Amino acid sequence: MLRVARFLSVPLLLLAIAIGVLALTSKPAQPAAVLSRFAEQPLVIAHRGGKGLWPENSLFAFERASALGVDMLEMDLHLSSDGELVVIHDPTLDRTTNGDGPVAARSLAQLQALDAGYRWSADGGQSHPYRGQGVRIPTFTEVLERFPSIPKVIEIKVPDVGMEAQLCDTLTAHQQRDKVIVGSFYDRSLQLFREQCPGVATSAGPDSVRLLLALNWIGLGSVLSPSYQALQIPEAHSGLPIASSSLLQTASQRGLNVQLWTINEQPDMRRLLDLGADALITDYPDRALQVLGRSTRISALEAD
Ligand code: G3P
Ligand code: CA
Repeated sequence: MLRVARFLSVPLLLLAIAIGVLALTSKPAQPAAVLSRFAEQPLVIAHRGGKGLWPENSLFAFERASALGVDMLEMDLHLSSDGELVVIHDPTLDRTTNGDGPVAARSLAQLQALDAGYRWSADGGQSHPYRGQGVRIPTFTEVLERFPSIPKVIEIKVPDVGMEAQLCDTLTAHQQRDKVIVGSFYDRSLQLFREQCPGVATSAGPDSVRLLLALNWIGLGSVLSPSYQALQIPEAHSGLPIASSSLLQTASQRGLNVQLWTINEQPDMRRLLDLGADALITDYPDRALQVLGRSTRISALEAD
């Protein structure tokens, strides 16, 4: 027993020293330029422009959500066959438009000829109030030009097609590098984007989230030096809780803005805000604004 203890003492001592050094030299996240305009209040982020209220990822949705008073617009990027960044969530057209097949197989002109309000329904498919109303798939450039001021959460949906550099160039050309947080479910895309677009805020990719969860679980969250500014996470994944009070505390100590998705019910919104969420990414931004006691102009919008 004594021999085992002696055998383990040196590695354990080295490990303790390494952890101590890491903890002493770790740095919290660099502040995100896009978040500097906000006071400490929790943010309301319109998921796909507020997909519970109007057709997702459309100029119409972004216009309405902005008018409602949300803090940020969330949107998803794909590439058309002729290389334009377009704002749509799915890799295929079937769920949201009157088209079908892969987005990447259609030119911009073909994509923009489709009706992006065709499938939206608030009553389980009995009525489709936005059919034939001119709602279409926007280009990312159109969104930047139409909404130059409002901060945006932008998700890279396709890795390995050069979208990272194109996104960076487009943000730079429109002077909106300080108005966005870029996220992706692909860590390699985020890594590339950070290299190609330094200074632009990003969120943690899945591997980074897993590392943070693991470090927090063993009580070593303080050794983390995040290369990202925001943590965009669900409350739970595959039945496993993610957004625990302890994780949110650690994230906050590491300078991260914790943005939870996709929070649509008001009791959940209240509970997660109490837990320490910095932002709610929601399909129903009207509900979140109401929970926060902020005015919405939803009735004025309905009267339009
Ligand atoms: O920020 C992530 C959030 O957008 C959830 O993912 O599938 O709605 O794009 P998704
Ligand atoms: Ca998204």
